[in-house]
Amino acid sequence: MRPHFYSRQSTDLARYALENRGDGGSGPRLVIIGVGMMGREHLRVVALLGRARLRGIYDASPDSIRLALADCAAHGVAEPLVYDSLDAACADPHADAYMVCTPNFSHWNLFEGLLATGKPIFLEKPMATSLAEARRMVDIARDYPGLVQLGMQYRFKAQYVDAFHEVQSQQVIGPVKTIAMAEYRPPFLDKVGQWNKFNRYSGGTLVEKCCHYFDLINQMAAGIPTKVYAQGGRAVNFLDFEQDGECSDIDDHAFVSITYDNGILANFTLNMFSQELYEELVVTGPGGRVVASEQASFRPGVPSSALIKVETPDHPAYRGLEVTYPDTIERSGHSGATFFEHLAWVTQLEGGEADAATALQGFWSLVVASAAQQSLTSGEVILIDEFCAGQGITLPSHG
Ligand SMILES: NC(=O)c1ccc[n+]([C@@H]2O[C@H](COP(=O)([O-])OP(=O)(O)OC[C@H]3O[C@@H](n4cnc5c(N)ncnc54)[C@H](O)[C@@H]3O)[C@@H](O)[C@H]2O)c1
Repeated sequence: MRPHFYSRQSTDLARYALENRGDGGSGPRLVIIGVGMMGREHLRVVALLGRARLRGIYDASPDSIRLALADCAAHGVAEPLVYDSLDAACADPHADAYMVCTPNFSHWNLFEGLLATGKPIFLEKPMATSLAEARRMVDIARDYPGLVQLGMQYRFKAQYVDAFHEVQSQQVIGPVKTIAMAEYRPPFLDKVGQWNKFNRYSGGTLVEKCCHYFDLINQMAAGIPTKVYAQGGRAVNFLDFEQDGECSDIDDHAFVSITYDNGILANFTLNMFSQELYEELVVTGPGGRVVASEQASFRPGVPSSALIKVETPDHPAYRGLEVTYPDTIERSGHSGATFFEHLAWVTQLEGGEADAATALQGFWSLVVASAAQQSLTSGEVILIDEFCAGQGITLPSHG
C-alpha cells in the first residue's frame, strides 16, 4: 500500500515565511495607531518578519508610547516618528499604510478619520462595537481605493490553518455537518483605561473576545448564519470591579448555538475563569471528525502546543499530530498567529494575494457576536434577518 502523504499547511506556511524574511530596510512604511498590548505585538512582529518598516506611532497615552519606544530599541526597530494627533499621522506623506490597534469603541472614529488618506488600513477586531457602523464599513471598504484588512489573527493559528485545509478538501470527512468550538481561558487582562471591563467600550464579551471564533466558525461553515441562541452571564470574574463609580458588567461564560442557511449547526462554549488556556475546534462530517486543539498557559515560560487530529482510520493524524510553529514565531504573540496575519498584510501591501479577513467577513463575525450578545440579554432566539432589519441594516451578500 502506498504510504499516505499528509501535507500540513502550517508547516509550509512557516517555511515560506522564514525563507522570505526581510532585513527591515525596505518595504511598506507602517504607522501604528494605538500601541497598547496589541499594537506593540504588531510592532515586534514587524521586526521579526522584516518585510515592512515602522514609520510612526500615535497613541493617546504617553505610557504606551514610552513602552513602544522601549520595544523598538529592544527589537532593533529604528525609532519611529511619534505623532501628536491623528491628523498629523494622516498628513505624513511618507506613511504607506495604517494599523488601528486601539480599543473597540474607538475603531469607527479612527477608521473614518483615516479614509481621506486613501491608504491601506488594517483594523483590529472587532471592527466596531455597533453592527450599524460595521455595516457602513463594509460599503466604505468596497469602494475605498486602498486595502482594508481586518485583524482576525486566530485563523492563522497553526491548528486552524491545517483544520481549514482538511475541511475544505472534503477528502476525509466529506461535507461538514456540525461544528463545535470552545475556549477556556483565564479572565481578561488589564487594559489601558480598563475598557474591556465594560460592555459599552468593548461591545460585550461575545463581541470583544469571541468575534475571532465566530469568524473561524463562519469560515468552516461557509454559509450564512440565520439563527443564534445564547445562554451565559457573570459567574466569577470582576464581580466587584468598579472604576469611577461604574461597575463592570461583562460576561465571563456562554454557550452559543448557531444555525446556518446550508443546514450546518454550530456551537461555541466560552469559559473565562479557567486556570489555563484550552481551545478546541471539532468539525464533523459523515467521513469523520477534524479536531484542532491548543493548550497554553498564561504563565511565563510555559510553551503552548497545538494538535490536529483527523479521525478516520489509517490517517497519519489519526492519533494527533503536533502542529506548533517554530519557537521564534510562536513566541512573537498569539501562538504565531499575529506573525502570519502580518505576513498576509505585507504580502497584500506589496501587491500579492493572501487569505486575510475582509471587512465583509469581519461584519459577519460581528453579526453572530452581536446576536449572541442580544440573546444573552433577552433570553430569546435571535433570527438574524429580523435582528438586522430592526436596526435598519440590510444584509450584504456573503463573502
Ligand atoms: N491584546 C490582544 O491579545 C488582542 C488580540 C487581538 C485583538 N486585539 C484588539 O486590539 C485592540 C487593542 O487592544 P489592546 O489589547 O492593545 O488594548 P490596550 O488597552 O492594551 O491598548 C490600546 C491602546 O490604544 C490607545 N488609545 C485609546 N484610544 C485611542 C485613540 N483614540 N487614539 C490613539 N490611541 C488610543 C490607548 O492609550 C492604548 O495604548 C482592541 O480592539 C482589541 O480587541 C487585542
